[in-house]
Amino acid sequence: MEEGKDPATANRSGRFITWRFLQYLLLFLVLGLGISIISMNTLRYLGPQNQNTITPLHRSNSIIWSTEPSGLESWISPPKNLLHNMIDAELLWRASFVPKIKTYPYRRVPKIAFMFLTKGPLPLAPLWERFFKGNEKLFSIYIHSLPSYVADFPQASPFYKRQIPSQVAEWGMMSMCDAERRLLANALLDLSNEWFILLSESCIPVQNFSTVYRYISQSRHSFMGSFDEDGPYGRGRYNPYMAPEVNLTEWRKGSQWFEVNRELAVAIIRDSKYYPKFKRFCRPACYVDEHYFPTMLSIHYPDLMANRTLTWVDWSRGGAHPATFGQYDITKEFLKKILKSNCTYNDHTTTQCFLFARKFSHSSLEPLLALAAPVLGIH
Ligand SMILES: *[C@@H]1O[C@H](CO)[C@@H](O)[C@H](O)[C@H]1NC(C)=O
Ligand SMILES: *[C@@H]1O[C@H](CO)[C@@H](O)[C@H](O)[C@H]1NC(C)=O
Ligand SMILES: *[C@@H]1O[C@H](CO)[C@@H](O)[C@H](O)[C@H]1NC(C)=O
Ligand SMILES: *[C@@H]1O[C@H](CO)[C@@H](O)[C@H](O)[C@H]1NC(C)=O
Repeated sequence: MEEGKDPATANRSGRFITWRFLQYLLLFLVLGLGISIISMNTLRYLGPQNQNTITPLHRSNSIIWSTEPSGLESWISPPKNLLHNMIDAELLWRASFVPKIKTYPYRRVPKIAFMFLTKGPLPLAPLWERFFKGNEKLFSIYIHSLPSYVADFPQASPFYKRQIPSQVAEWGMMSMCDAERRLLANALLDLSNEWFILLSESCIPVQNFSTVYRYISQSRHSFMGSFDEDGPYGRGRYNPYMAPEVNLTEWRKGSQWFEVNRELAVAIIRDSKYYPKFKRFCRPACYVDEHYFPTMLSIHYPDLMANRTLTWVDWSRGGAHPATFGQYDITKEFLKKILKSNCTYNDHTTTQCFLFARKFSHSSLEPLLALAAPVLGIH
C-alpha cells in the first residue's frame, strides 16, 4: 500500500524527537551550570590577585561583596595593600573625605605618618629601623620613589611593602609637589594618621621616637617653614600674574621638608585654586616646592603655622645646595650642635628645635649608629 506513514511509526518518531529535545535541554542545563560554577570559583580565587587588571570600580565592588566586614571596621581600617590602582584625580578625591562629627565613636590612637620622598634606596634605613622599633602602634610609613625602583626590604623591616604608586618627580617642578600630595593623600586614607612628616633618603632622626611623638602631638602649630624674604631668592621669585589669588605681601618661602596635621594635609590635597597659578607662574628659577604650600597655608591658616621646619640643615657653606655630611663629619660635638639652637614652641622659647636633620650620605651610617644611643637617645 502506498499509504502515508504507519501511525505507530509516526508516533514513535514524534516521541523520539521530544526525547532528543529533552536530552539536549538537559545537556545545556548541565553545561551552563558547570560553566557558571567554574567561573564563580575562578573569580573568587583569582579575583583579588588579578585586581590590577580590573577597574577600580569593579574591584571595590568585589571587595565589598566578598571580604569586607559590614560594621564600622570597614570604614576605619587602613587599606591593606598600598598598591592601589587609583589615578591621582581619584586618589585625591577619595582622600579629601572628612568626617563632620568631630568625636570618634571608637578609641582612636593618633599616629604619625612618616612620608619618605626618595629616588630609590634608603641607605640610612638601619638607623630609622632602630628609631621606629617598639612604637609600631604609633606610626605608619609611606615611600614614594622613582617608579623604576624596586624595593627589597625584608619582611621584618617597617619599610616592607610601604611603597605607594609613584611617578617621576623633578626638583623645582610641580611634579615634585604632585609627589608630595600623592604621599599625603595615601597617608590620609588611614584615618589614624594625624600628623604627616615629609622626609628624604638623606634625613636622620636626632631625637628618639617618644620625644618626637610628644613634641609633635603637643604642639599647637604645624611645622612648616614660612617666611617673607626680600631679595632675588624670596620676593624676587614672585610673579605678578599670580594676583589676585596671591599678592606680593602674601608670598612666602620655606623648606620643602614639613610636618602638617590632618587639617592642613586635607587643605593641601584638595586645593584647586592656587595649584594652577603656581604650576603656570612658578617655574625655575622659582622653585615651586619652596613656595606653594607655605604661601597657600599662610593665607588660610596663619594661626596653625609655626613657620619653621623641624629638619636641621647646614647652608653655611654657601651655594645652591646645603652641605652633605659623611663618615668623618659625624662626631659627638657635631650632633650636640644640632640639638641646641633657639626657637619658639607653643609660644615659649626653647633650645629643642630640631627632631630631624639632613643631608647625610651612606658613609655616615656607621658612626651615626655608634652615637645614636649615647648622644641621640635612640636605643
Ligand atoms: C628619649 O629621649 C629622652 C630625652 O632625650 C629621654 O629622657 C628618654 O628616656 C628617651 N626615651 C627612650 C624610650 O629611650
Ligand atoms: C590681593 O589684593 C587684591 C587687591 O587689593 C585683593 O582684592 C585680594 O583679596 C588680595 N588677595 C589676598 C589673598 O589677600
Ligand atoms: C606664622 O606666620 C603668620 C603670618 O604668615 C602669623 O600670623 C603667625 O602668627 C605665625 N606663627 C607663629 C607661631 O608665630
Ligand atoms: C640661644 O640664646 C642664648 C641666650 O639668648 C644664647 O646665649 C645662645 O648663644 C643662643 N644659641 C644659639 C645656638 O643661637
